[in-house]
Amino acid sequence: MSKFKKGLEGIIALETEISYIDGEKGILEYRGHRIEKLAELSYEEVVHLLLYDKLPNTEELNEFFNKTKVIRELDVRTKEVIHYHNFNIEAMDALMTALAHISQGDPDLNVNTPEANIRKALRLIAKAPTIVAYYQRIHEGKEIVKPNELLPHCSNFLYMLRGEVPTKLESKILDLDFILSTEHELNASTFAVRVTASTLSDIHSAVISGIGTLKGVLHGGARLAVMNMLDEIGSPKKTEEYIMNMINTKQRIMGFGHRVYRVVDPRANIFRDLAKKIAEEKKDMKWYDMATKIEEVVTRELVEKQGKPIYMNVDFYSGVIYKYLEIPPKLATAIFALGRITGWLAHAMEQYSDNRLIRPRAKYIGEHHSQDKEISKLTKD
Ligand code: ACO
Repeated sequence: MSKFKKGLEGIIALETEISYIDGEKGILEYRGHRIEKLAELSYEEVVHLLLYDKLPNTEELNEFFNKTKVIRELDVRTKEVIHYHNFNIEAMDALMTALAHISQGDPDLNVNTPEANIRKALRLIAKAPTIVAYYQRIHEGKEIVKPNELLPHCSNFLYMLRGEVPTKLESKILDLDFILSTEHELNASTFAVRVTASTLSDIHSAVISGIGTLKGVLHGGARLAVMNMLDEIGSPKKTEEYIMNMINTKQRIMGFGHRVYRVVDPRANIFRDLAKKIAEEKKDMKWYDMATKIEEVVTRELVEKQGKPIYMNVDFYSGVIYKYLEIPPKLATAIFALGRITGWLAHAMEQYSDNRLIRPRAKYIGEHHSQDKEISKLTKD
C-alpha cells in the first residue's frame, strides 16, 4: 500500500483537463487560460469554456444566453418548499434542500448521457441563483422578484435579490466573483463531487455533495467567517489589537492560508483591487482599510516573523467585497456555491467521461482481537 498522507496532502488523485495550479508561482489556469485574462470576460463566457472546453464566439455566446435566460424560473412546488424552509439556517442549507427537490422533477434525472448531463448542468446553473434570491426575499418578508431575461446571469441574481438593477460596477464585481470562484482543481468540494459522480450517481447528487462540503469553515465557509470577523472588529483602529490577540492565542485567521499556494492566491490579488474600487465608488474605505491592516499584521507576524506561508486566499477580499455589496452574511457561502457550481459540473462530466470508482484505502491503526475472547464470552452468556 502507498504511504499515508494526512489530508491527502500532495497526493495526485486523478488527471484533469479543467484547471491547473502552480502553488509555488501563484498561477491558476482554467482549460489553459490564465485567471488574470479570464477576469476580463463575462461569467457566461467562462461557463461556456468550462462546460464545452471552448471560449464561445458571439453566436455561441448568444445561443448560450438565450438557452439559459428562459430556464431561470422555478416550478411552483420548489417555491413552496422554499416557503417552508427554516429561516434561521444558512442559505447553503436552503440551496441543498431546494436542489434535491428540483432533481425529483428533472426529466433527465437518471439519464447519465453527456447530452442529458449538459441539459441538467444548464438547468442547475440557471436555477440555483433564483433559489438563493427567493430564499432571501421570502426570509425578509418581501415579494419575490422574478428573473429578468434582459439581464446577464450575475446582474440578474443581484436584481432578484434586491429588486433593483445593479450598477455597472456591482454587476462587473459579481461577474468577477463568480469567475474567480468557479473552478479550482481538486479542492475539497470538487473532490466530493467527483467521488459521488464516480459511483455513477446522478449529477444533482454530485452537486449536492459539493454544496455540503463547501459549507465548512475551512473551505468556502471562510468567506462568511471573514465577514463576521470584520463586523466583530468594527473599526480600522481596533484591527491591530484584534488580530494580534488571535495570533497570540493561536487562532486561525479566516481568509488566510492554503493547502496548495505557497505565495499569495492569484485570485486574492484581483479581489483586492476590486475591493478598493468599490470602496472608492461607495466613498467608504472602512472595510477596505480594515482588510489591508489585517493583511499587514498577518504578513508581518506569521510570514515574516514565523516564516509560515500564510498568505491571503480567495475568501479574504471576497468577504470584504460582500460587505460593500451589502450581501447578508447568511448568503455568503451560498453565493460562492453559485459561482463554483459550474466547476463542479465540469468535473462531474469529466469524471463520467472516463470513470473509475474513486475508492482509496485507509491504514488501520486499531487493535486486532485475534482470540475474540470477548465475543466468545458474550455468545456463551
Ligand atoms: N491562520 C493562522 N495559522 C494558520 C492558518 C491561518 N489561517 N492556516 C494555517 N495556519 C497554520 C497552522 O496553525 C499550522 O501551524 P503549525 O504548523 O504551527 O501547527 C500551519 O499553518 C499549517 O496548517 P495546516 O492546517 O496543516 O494547513 P492545511 O494545508 O491543512 O490547511 C487551510 C489549509 C485549511 C486552508 C488553513 O490554512 C486554514 O484553516 N485557513 C483558514 C480557513 C480558510 O481561510 N479557508 C479557506 C481556504 S480557500 C478555500 O477553500 C476556498
